[in-house]
Amino acid sequence: MPEPSYIPETLAGVPRSAWPGHIAIIMDGNGRWAEACGLPRIEGHREGAVNVPRITQEASRLGLVQLTLFAFSSENWRRPPHEIAFLMELYREYVVRERPTIMDNRIRFTTIGRRDGIPAHVLAEADRTTEMSAGNRGTVLCLAVNYGSRREIADAARRLAERAARGEIDPAAITEATLASHLDTAGMPDPDLLIRTAGEMRLSNFLLWQLSYAELWVTEKRWPDFREADLHQAMRDFAGRERRFGGLPAESEGA
Ligand code: IPE
Ligand code: IPE
Ligand code: MG
Repeated sequence: MPEPSYIPETLAGVPRSAWPGHIAIIMDGNGRWAEACGLPRIEGHREGAVNVPRITQEASRLGLVQLTLFAFSSENWRRPPHEIAFLMELYREYVVRERPTIMDNRIRFTTIGRRDGIPAHVLAEADRTTEMSAGNRGTVLCLAVNYGSRREIADAARRLAERAARGEIDPAAITEATLASHLDTAGMPDPDLLIRTAGEMRLSNFLLWQLSYAELWVTEKRWPDFREADLHQAMRDFAGRERRFGGLPAESEGA
């Protein structure tokens, strides 16, 4: 990917080498945003969906390697049927409407999560956007839809066990990399930075394996109010963090 020259004022002085490559976002607070406006919850989802292309375009302009967005969890099926139906329709509209922008910005669209439960006509449109953009070499946009991390890990364990039972792999040879290559996120880098909007200090079953060493950044702002400047602020704060990965601070090494 060519190094983009775009550096927003809000990131001035933060060297590109200190930027996160992969940002994951738990897009939370649509319901509370609507409630605060005296609107039904679905209006919050509508406004939240409007915000997705805004933040995606910014990620692309910044030249991020990947942006992963939590759109619908495997637990969100517990919501009222009309809310679920509305979210599915928003998803379908989104993958159709955004095709030109995705192609113009050379974004590669992809998804993680299980297909079952998602209406076939919605899957068909999402697949079309995935296939159409498969050759793009810009920012990867990964939507987590009907995604749950524990289920993803259990699925990976089952697939590995099946392969072992067939004699295709030696159980003794299973490593972290083997397991990672059986997750939905196989081949993707781990997120460097996790952003959660709307203040909750939890992961809600999102990328439990992949976020092991991500820096966490939580804002009180609800997803429909989250803007480019908030993304920049998270990146700026990220750049100031010291990632140790279990080791010692760089300056004390060998001391
Ligand atoms: C996030 O907003 C969107 C989805 C989970 C689909 P919420 O709908 O969870 O909003 P709050 O948390 O109720 O405010
Ligand atoms: C997490 O938000 C899922 C998405 C943003 C898609 P939730 O609103 O479902 O999480 P909880 O229920 O507050 O943990
Ligand atoms: Mg929520």
